[in-house]
Amino acid sequence: MLAAYAARFSPDSPVDGLEVGERPEPEARENWSVVEVRAASLNHHDLWSLRGVGLRAEQLPMVLGTDAAGVAPDGTEVVVHAVIGADGHGVGPREPRSLLSERYDGTLAQYVAVPTANLLPKPSELTFAEASCMPTAYLTAYRMLFSVAGLTPGQSVLVQGAGGGVATAAIVLGAAAGLEVTATSRSTAKRERALALGAAHAVETGARLPARVDAVLESVGQATWAHSVRSVKPGGTIAVCGATSGDAPPAELTRIFFQEIAVRGVTMGSRDDLAALLAFCARTGLRPVIDSQYPLTDVATALARLDAGAQTGKLVIAP
Ligand SMILES: NC(=O)c1ccc[n+]([C@@H]2O[C@H](COP(=O)([O-])OP(=O)(O)OC[C@H]3O[C@@H](n4cnc5c(N)ncnc54)[C@H](OP(=O)(O)O)[C@@H]3O)[C@@H](O)[C@H]2O)c1
Repeated sequence: MLAAYAARFSPDSPVDGLEVGERPEPEARENWSVVEVRAASLNHHDLWSLRGVGLRAEQLPMVLGTDAAGVAPDGTEVVVHAVIGADGHGVGPREPRSLLSERYDGTLAQYVAVPTANLLPKPSELTFAEASCMPTAYLTAYRMLFSVAGLTPGQSVLVQGAGGGVATAAIVLGAAAGLEVTATSRSTAKRERALALGAAHAVETGARLPARVDAVLESVGQATWAHSVRSVKPGGTIAVCGATSGDAPPAELTRIFFQEIAVRGVTMGSRDDLAALLAFCARTGLRPVIDSQYPLTDVATALARLDAGAQTGKLVIAP
């Protein structure tokens, strides 16, 4: 089958580690299903893998991709929950938690094998492309907003780095839930897009906010951490899911204890969270923000766009 895989690590120029070519088709095994991938979406995770973060050299070649929607062996249309092992489903009690493409081959291929319990029915309201955006960026943003920060309609949230997959997800999900969303971006065009997507305010990265917010969604890391700590209300929450620009900013400990700020880490979400997110989208008409779509043969172009930070929203790959 055709697949896009990490052939080698390339820390400074991740796309150079990518190859697109033939890989063996996954074999069916007990409690697992082989899904015919109709659409997959890229995440910054794919760039980390090509840089060698989270993978060991002896695991190469590894098919990339955490997110997919496709067709199960019985013909049902499904969305793939990318977290293997978290709930012990389908893989035994000693299975460590991993995401697809960290321990098992990922979704940037014509077929992917996953524990059958990781399959959820794709709502008919969503296209395969739209559904393929949900398992990582949308699930993480959903959990950050509603489970971890516990935000309710009328409250305020700051989303750092407006153009990213997680960030655009947080903007549209937050706006749909009646939150007052403020987004930051380095780019004027992305700030304008954030407003069009439902943000109430969009400011330059690092700019002082008119008022402090109930919660901050942080995925940028070093470049925005100090601003996140200064922008949250006393007693508010900073939900952190990533550190794209680096993870060694000053900790700002004095502000954190003095203002009683809660800092909460987030990694993905459960299968039940994903089911709730899919139902939310089907019911409300909310659709993911898709930047652009590419054939599997052109994954390198899509990854280069992600690496350059040129996108607004998700990049979708159709095998
Ligand atoms: N823990 C989890 O489960 C989980 C799930 C999903 C993602 N993540 C992590 O979260 C991060 C975002 O993921 P993603 O897929 O949404 O990535 P992405 O689509 O590549 O977005 C990254 C965004 O970060 C902003 N950014 C990057 N460098 C910056 C800098 N130096 N200064 C200011 N802003 C900067 C950019 O926003 P602007 O261009 O608008 O300024 C960019 O759009 C990644 O590190 C990823 O690994 C973690």
